[in-house]
Amino acid sequence: MWFATTVIITIHQIHARVATRTTITPPRIRNHVSNQFSINCTDCHSNNAWQPSSFDHNTVYPLTGAHAAIAINCVVCHNGNYNNTPNTCVGCHSADYSSASNPNHQVNQFSTNCTDCHNNNAWSPSSFDHNIVYPLTGAHAAIASNCVVCHNGNYNNTPNTCAGCHQDDYNSTTNPNHVSNQFSINCTDCHSNNAWQPATFNHNTVYPLTGAHAAIASNCVVCHNGNYNNTPNTCAGCHQPDYNSATDPNHVTNQFSINCTDCHNNSAWEPSTFNHNNVYPLTGAHAAISNNCIILPHKW
Ligand code: HEC
Ligand code: HEC
Ligand code: HEC
Ligand code: HEC
Ligand code: HEC
Ligand code: HEC
Ligand code: HEC
Ligand code: HEC
Ligand code: HEC
Ligand code: HEC
Repeated sequence: MWFATTVIITIHQIHARVATRTTITPPRIRNHVSNQFSINCTDCHSNNAWQPSSFDHNTVYPLTGAHAAIAINCVVCHNGNYNNTPNTCVGCHSADYSSASNPNHQVNQFSTNCTDCHNNNAWSPSSFDHNIVYPLTGAHAAIASNCVVCHNGNYNNTPNTCAGCHQDDYNSTTNPNHVSNQFSINCTDCHSNNAWQPATFNHNTVYPLTGAHAAIASNCVVCHNGNYNNTPNTCAGCHQPDYNSATDPNHVTNQFSINCTDCHNNSAWEPSTFNHNNVYPLTGAHAAISNNCIILPHKW
């Protein structure tokens, strides 16, 4: 008991001394009075010396980044109560959250778990690098800070497929009409992030649309019939009915090859590109029967 009494007396004496000295040599010496430190000195001191304080703040809460600069300004964080200090960012920074305007955190319904997007160093730049989760390129770069148009206030439920956000655009297309053409909803087959038009899909790389096909180039369905994986790529694959119904000359009875390019190109059926005179000039009496191919000794 004598020991306790002695300690209390000592504390009172030193406390008075501390109060005096802190006014003399700021800022290194922490003003215990204005910081409203506990008078339970052993929270922060051992018997060895007053300085350094035995209290190592880093063991309870590291003061890093912007907090290092205010490390000796205890009161701004502790507000005189060392038992009731918030230890979440929002606990101290809710006013900053509310006033953040670019982007507007409230409108965007950002999480109040600030460390998702910030560290202690500074609010700007945000530590959140969107490119790691989803690069905002092309047309998306222009709306990069308009978070809500994509996230709609829910950062855990954002679509990450084009169709997830652009199904309405797909549905409203008219040229070409994506719905009636039964296009894939895997937009990247034919589009980039830059713009819908022009499409990145260059038909010429898979099948040039030339001659008569150029005229129907945007009428995809007449050739693809809604199935882009099963499109014929031979003339006969699409034009067998034309072959069957050709009468002048009659292709069936003449047993013409179904390799149409032997005698036709994409421009038109007539005239045929086949020039009989290159193989055997039909002159004189032969000219009169030139359309009756089959009576000639042919193997097409
Ligand atoms: C909340 C923590 C905390 C408490 C409680 C606390 N101190 Fe300190 N005290 C410090 C810190 C931090 C320093 C600065 C140490 C340094 O500069 O290395 C300090 C420094 C001092 C110093 C040296 C600086 C100066 O002005 O001479 C004295 C003396 C001192 N304290 C006395 C006391 C006494 C007496 C009590 C109890 C009545 C007390 N302290 C309670 C944190 C505290
Ligand atoms: C940037 C804000 C900030 C500053 C500045 C700051 N602290 Fe802290 N301090 C904290 C946080 C946060 C905690 C952890 C609170 C918790 O986890 O309950 C803490 C914990 C403590 C604790 C432990 C409290 C307990 O109940 O365990 C003491 C003592 C303390 N700080 C003293 C100081 C002293 C002394 C200073 C100035 C020399 C100081 N702090 C400056 C934020 C700060
Ligand atoms: C115990 C209160 C407290 C806690 C907890 C706290 N801070 Fe701080 N912080 C402060 C105070 C006080 C300042 C200095 C005043 C100010 O600029 O708001 C500060 C400053 C900052 C700054 C610099 C602001 C500027 O304008 O330069 C950033 C950034 C920051 N804190 C981020 C964070 C993050 C991130 C967390 C969570 C990991 C966090 N803080 C937790 C109290 C706290
Ligand atoms: C979903 C991510 C996200 C979360 C969560 C988030 N922020 Fe931010 N915050 C940002 C982005 C992005 C910026 C803009 C950074 C830039 O300009 O480089 C920003 C900027 C800020 C700014 C400066 C903006 C201005 O208008 O001055 C403050 C202050 C801020 N945030 C505070 C907070 C606080 C406090 C929290 C937690 C309570 C928080 N933020 C949570 C993403 C977030
Ligand atoms: C063009 C649309 C778009 C814009 C604009 C956009 N984001 Fe994103 N964001 C995404 C997509 C897509 C993802 C990935 C979702 C996934 O894969 O689950 C994502 C992911 C995120 C994530 C990670 C979510 C998680 O669960 O991992 C955060 C945080 C985020 N964005 C914050 C922001 C912030 C803050 C802004 C504004 C500064 C912003 N985003 C602007 C589309 C966007
Ligand atoms: C999380 C939602 C989201 C995802 C995922 C997404 N976008 Fe976007 N995109 C938007 C928003 C919002 C806009 C701006 C509003 C608008 O123009 O539709 C936009 C704009 C565009 C534009 C510009 C449109 C115009 O009219 O200028 C193109 C092109 C585009 N996106 C293509 C894509 C492609 C391709 C993908 C897949 C690789 C994709 N987007 C994925 C949300 C998204
Ligand atoms: C099979 C290829 C293909 C696929 C898959 C495809 N598109 Fe397209 N889309 C096109 C072509 C070709 C155009 C016309 C481009 C031009 O005019 O330069 C086009 C044009 C558009 C246009 C502008 C035309 C209009 O009428 O508004 C929009 C919007 C569009 N596509 C959205 C989408 C979306 C969204 C998806 C995925 C959900 C998608 N597309 C998938 C080929 C495709
Ligand atoms: C004159 C007929 C014709 C028209 C019109 C046509 N295509 Fe094609 N398309 C083809 C042929 C033939 C192929 C090659 C098929 C093959 O080799 O497997 C092809 C290939 C494709 C492929 C690649 C399919 C794959 O599996 O690699 C896509 C995508 C495609 N076309 C989209 C379109 C779109 C979009 C349009 C309208 C804007 C269109 N096509 C108009 C005949 C056509
Ligand atoms: C994927 C289907 C497809 C393939 C493959 C294809 N075409 Fe076509 N072609 C069409 C369609 C559809 C039209 C327009 C409707 C029509 O006139 O039959 C057309 C039109 C034509 C026309 C114009 C017909 C007219 O009446 O004006 C010619 C000539 C033609 N194609 C020749 C060819 C030749 C030669 C080949 C092979 C090199 C070929 N096509 C391959 C689908 C195809
Ligand atoms: C051995 C040569 C030869 C081959 C092979 C051939 N054609 Fe022809 N075709 C002709 C000639 C010659 C004409 C008449 C051209 C003219 O009047 O200028 C013709 C005319 C046509 C006509 C128009 C005649 C009518 O009565 O409507 C069609 C359609 C036609 N061909 C389709 C085809 C198709 C489809 C194929 C392949 C599946 C094919 N042809 C293969 C020689 C050929």
